[in-house]
Amino acid sequence: MKNTVKINSIELVNDDCLQYIKTLPDNSIDLICTDPPYFRVKPDGWDNQWKGDSDYLTWLDMCLAEFWRVLKPAGSIYLFCGHRLAADIELLMRNRFDVLNHIIWAKPSGRWNGCNKESLRAYFPATERILFAGHYLGPYKPKDDGYAAKCDDTKRHVMTPLIDYFRNARASLGVTSKQIVAATGKNMASHWFGASQWQLPNEADYLKLQALFSDIARVKQQRQELETPHHQLVVEYQALSRRYVELLDEYKALRRPFSVSAAVPYTDVWTHKPVQFYPGKHPCEKPADMLRQIIEASSRPGDVVADFFMGSGSTIKAAFHLGRHAIGVELDEARFKQTVEEVEQVQ
Ligand SMILES: C[S@@+](CC[C@H](N)C(=O)[O-])C[C@H]1O[C@@H](n2cnc3c(N)ncnc32)[C@H](O)[C@@H]1O
Repeated sequence: MKNTVKINSIELVNDDCLQYIKTLPDNSIDLICTDPPYFRVKPDGWDNQWKGDSDYLTWLDMCLAEFWRVLKPAGSIYLFCGHRLAADIELLMRNRFDVLNHIIWAKPSGRWNGCNKESLRAYFPATERILFAGHYLGPYKPKDDGYAAKCDDTKRHVMTPLIDYFRNARASLGVTSKQIVAATGKNMASHWFGASQWQLPNEADYLKLQALFSDIARVKQQRQELETPHHQLVVEYQALSRRYVELLDEYKALRRPFSVSAAVPYTDVWTHKPVQFYPGKHPCEKPADMLRQIIEASSRPGDVVADFFMGSGSTIKAAFHLGRHAIGVELDEARFKQTVEEVEQVQ
């Protein structure tokens, strides 16, 4: 590792992204918000390191493999890209991540008003793209956050008294699925009398089941089953459901955070002014309001936010303001030094 600077909850690293990321443990980052070189968009050396598109995409895929490894099961990733290779990058990403949105960052101002429109021979690209993704929950490339499984288990556990009431009644009379379908006209035996995906039958179906069970008990000269009136089952179901909701609240921390409101853009089209020129500006500096929006929506205070191509450290500064831990990596030494100074000033 070339050079690491720690400033309180921020770690800034002057290194190659791939070299550095290999030193991070699995599942250690809550949010990756990163802006890799777009390739052949800027004249700078760092944007022209590859022989061609396929060379660039191979390199980016190696980065994505590492991002997948370090991103926590309930983590989120926002990857910036230019319009030209956005489709290729989205396909690459889909091999590893569940792409949730292809966000269009529409710039309200730009060089297009001054250009010769006819000579473009295509529409002026006034957008950049942000691919927003999380882990697959399965079955493709799962890194399951455990939330869905916990919900299922909890529901089964909480509903056990009702599940057992139906299961035991059926077992004691040996009622078959065929008889249940014939009596109710519905193929619901596994839901009403099973543990997984259990459902309370509605009143009309329950009355039909009661009649069926009563006939079978009479023929077999056995004790009557399903004798509890439906309205009593509903009362018990409501009480158990309340308990279930309380328990779910405890599992919320397992879920991928996502909080948006009408006060911030919550659609996949965002309008943010590009950062205006100032001496020392990074040519690709991203607007602070856009980064704050991403960090607030997809992480919680105290989470670890990483930008593996931090440039001016715009992500790092926004993360710091919002009380997150941050890791920033930058290859270019001069730029790294400038960013360290700027972050120290922000602190
Ligand atoms: C598109 S810019 C990021 C700009 C940043 N979002 C900002 O707001 O300032 C990409 C940055 O990645 C850096 N970079 C290029 N290749 C890198 C690599 N292999 N590892 C780490 N940083 C790299 C470049 O020097 C450049 O500063």
